[in-house]
Amino acid sequence: MIRRPRRLRATKAIRNLVRETKLQKEDLIYPLFIVDGENIKREIPSMEGVYHFSVDMLEDEIKELVELGIEHVLLFGVPDDNKKDCCGSEAYNDNGALQQGIRKIKEVAPEMDVICDVCMCEYTSHGHCGILTEGGYVDNDKTLEYLSKIAVSYAKAGADMVAPSDMMDGRIGALRNALDENGYETVAIMAYSAKYASAFYGPFRDAANSAPAFGDRKTYQMDPANSNEAMVEADLDIEEGADIIMVKPALSYLDIIRRFKDNYDLPIAAYNVSGEYSMLKQAVKQGLLSEDAIYEAVMSIKRAGATIIITYFAKDLAKVIDMKK
Ligand code: PBG
Repeated sequence: MIRRPRRLRATKAIRNLVRETKLQKEDLIYPLFIVDGENIKREIPSMEGVYHFSVDMLEDEIKELVELGIEHVLLFGVPDDNKKDCCGSEAYNDNGALQQGIRKIKEVAPEMDVICDVCMCEYTSHGHCGILTEGGYVDNDKTLEYLSKIAVSYAKAGADMVAPSDMMDGRIGALRNALDENGYETVAIMAYSAKYASAFYGPFRDAANSAPAFGDRKTYQMDPANSNEAMVEADLDIEEGADIIMVKPALSYLDIIRRFKDNYDLPIAAYNVSGEYSMLKQAVKQGLLSEDAIYEAVMSIKRAGATIIITYFAKDLAKVIDMKK
C-alpha cells in the first residue's frame, strides 16, 4: 500500500490546517537608520527600499509601521563624520540623533517596542567596534565601560531593549550591571550571541558608514566555520543575564539557529542581514526570482527555530503575510 502524504496537500484549507510554521507580523523587527541633520529621507544605494532618516522625518515612517502591524524597531545611529572620534563619544550623547529618535518614536507611537543596537563602529573614527590599543587591537575591558555608557544613554532616552552587537567578552554582564545600577532593570538585553565575521554585512557598512578603516573584525566576531563556539558564546550570554539570544547572519547560519533552539529555552532571534536582503531584493528586481522567494527565505529562518526575526523585508512581508495563508 502506498502512503499518501499528498492527501494533506490537496486543498488550500488543508494546507493551512497542517502548516507547521506560521510567519506573523508580530515576529518581525524592522531596522531603522537615523542620521544627523534635517529633512533627510534618503535611499541607501546598496539597500534598495531602505532609507536614512533624520529625526524630523521619522513620524510618517513610524505611522506606516504601526498601520502595517509592525510593533518592533531596531535603531542604528549614523552620525556625521565630524562627530566621530577615537572613543565613539557621540554614541552616549544624551542629545544625539539616536536618542532624539527614540524620544520621537515614543511620542508618535508609545506602544512601539524600541530596541537599540549598541555598538561603536558607526561612531568611531577608525570604524572598529571598540576602543583601540596602540597596537590597533580592540581593548576588551575598556570597551565595556563605553558600551555601558551607551546602553544607559539609550535607556534614559526611553529604549525598551538594548542589543549589543560588538562581540566583546563580558558585555552582557557589564550592560546588565550598568542598566540595573542606573535604575533600568526593566530594560531587556537582546544579545548578538553568535555574531559571525561575515561578508554579508557589506551593504550595511555602506548604510552605516561603519567599515573598519584598517583590518577586519575577525579578532572579535566569530569564525564562520565554527558551531561549538556559538554554544560557548550563548552559554556566557545567558549566564551574564541575556533575555534573548541572537544568531547573525541568519540564512547561512540556519544550523546555528536550530542548535540554539534545541538547547536553550530563551527566545531565539535571528538577523536577516543587509547582504541577504540586497541579494534577494536584486534578484527579484531583475526578475530572476519571484517575490515568493522572500517569504520562503524568511520562513526558513522561523522554521529553523527563530521566533524573532530582524529583517529589512519586514514592511514588504507585512503587506503580503495575510494573503499567503
Ligand atoms: C555593528 C553592526 C553590524 C550589523 C549590525 N550591527 C555591522 C558589522 O558588524 O560590521 C550588520 C547588520 C546588517 O548587515 O544588516 N557592529
